[in-house]
Amino acid sequence: MAAISMRNITKVYGDGFPAVNDVSIEVADGEFIILVGPSGCGKSTLLRMIVGLEDITSGDMIIGGERVNQKAPRERNLSMVFQNYALYPHLTVYENIAFPLRLRGATDSDIKSRVEGAAKTLDLEEHLQRKPGQLSGGQRQRVAMGRAIVREANAFLFDEPLSNLDAKLRGQMRTEILRLQRNLGVTTVYVTHDQTEAMTLGDRVAVLRKGVMEQLASPRDLYEQPNNLFVAGFIGSPPMNFLPCSIKGDTMELPFLTAPLPAHVASRLTGQDLLIAGIRPEHFEDASVVDERKRDRGLTFEATVDVTEWLGNQQYAYILYDAPPEVLEHLAELDKELDGESLRTQMVVSLDPMSRIRDGQKATLWLDPARIHLFDPKTGLNLTKRDGESSESGDGSDAIGSSVITDGTGSGSTGGAHSLTADGGTRRTN
Ligand SMILES: Nc1ncnc2c1ncn2[C@@H]1O[C@H](COP(=O)(O)OP(=O)(O)OP(=O)(O)O)[C@@H](O)[C@H]1O
Ligand SMILES: [Mg+2]
Repeated sequence: MAAISMRNITKVYGDGFPAVNDVSIEVADGEFIILVGPSGCGKSTLLRMIVGLEDITSGDMIIGGERVNQKAPRERNLSMVFQNYALYPHLTVYENIAFPLRLRGATDSDIKSRVEGAAKTLDLEEHLQRKPGQLSGGQRQRVAMGRAIVREANAFLFDEPLSNLDAKLRGQMRTEILRLQRNLGVTTVYVTHDQTEAMTLGDRVAVLRKGVMEQLASPRDLYEQPNNLFVAGFIGSPPMNFLPCSIKGDTMELPFLTAPLPAHVASRLTGQDLLIAGIRPEHFEDASVVDERKRDRGLTFEATVDVTEWLGNQQYAYILYDAPPEVLEHLAELDKELDGESLRTQMVVSLDPMSRIRDGQKATLWLDPARIHLFDPKTGLNLTKRDGESSESGDGSDAIGSSVITDGTGSGSTGGAHSLTADGGTRRTN
């Protein structure tokens, strides 16, 4: 097992496009790191540079204290689990797991004890004499992991290992991978575009966008303290609502409510009078189900509900609003990057399933204004984020390198017409 240290890693392909751009991540020994981001953001390229399947254009890749840029994949002793598992169909499960050991010329008795040990860990003992074709997707996944385990690799690398599985099995395998990683304590880098996996598996999550790392933080920090509009819009399902917010003196005016502008935000403003407010759907509530003491801490406001969706354990209400064109422009740009489907000016709020709010009704909603994030529409930066509040700053990993903050391309996001998780597909898209 080993720490992996990526220092200013850049990959430029033949056409001059930097698929990975100056990314620095320090993966501690035994840590579980997730690489997440929209399609084409450079996740697989970065993973392939760790393994050695892709040349590194510049930067240093250090594994277990040793610079490996020039080392062949086999010399790095890493274990990669691919989406299709890459099992040999004509070999039994036993032989599939034994394969890397046979290549290495291990003795039969060594092979036997290691394969049986791995099979025990993975609960595959009953299937050792079967062929991959006779296994379920989840069992095949475990065989692929068994092969990684017997090699006693320095680290596990996964590239979307669960994306071929149905939602239920994906959930099971996710828990299984987490349990295994914890038991084995193997350094792991895991690529996914499924944010449920990103949020549940990783000790820390690196969010990539167009080759640049936008934020590296614990799942909780990403959710509560996103650096910018991109991360805010990417993490969370249904996604964060983005609304126009006019600054009038020391108040902020949103489509449905007016609230005092927090002092630390006011001090950061440099003349902007229009910001983008970000509010997560789950931070709203039907005012009638909020208990009194709590209600006083927040604001209530009226809005007309266009459509509601009742899901048993959850209820969503959709509310239409108007936004000025300059906000819409930013929102449209980010929506495209987030693989959003269309631009809509509707807000989604998550309500208690007991709520009696129904389609077409005027509803009284509640919100704690402390939950409102404010973003600069030009730079995308989160103006509400308090410096030094993040729990990631204390771990000494200095992992963010040069790319915490975006280049200020000024993209915005819509309330997100996309669902990024398997189980997030509950929203109306129009
Ligand atoms: N061999 C190549 N030559 C040129 N460009 C490439 C090559 N491989 C990948 N790219 C480009 O590099 C960028 C990053 O690709 P990569 O495969 O790392 O994305 P990804 O984040 O893994 O996406 P996905 O989620 O779709 O798998 C993309 O724009 C892609 O088109
Ligand atoms: Mg990929």
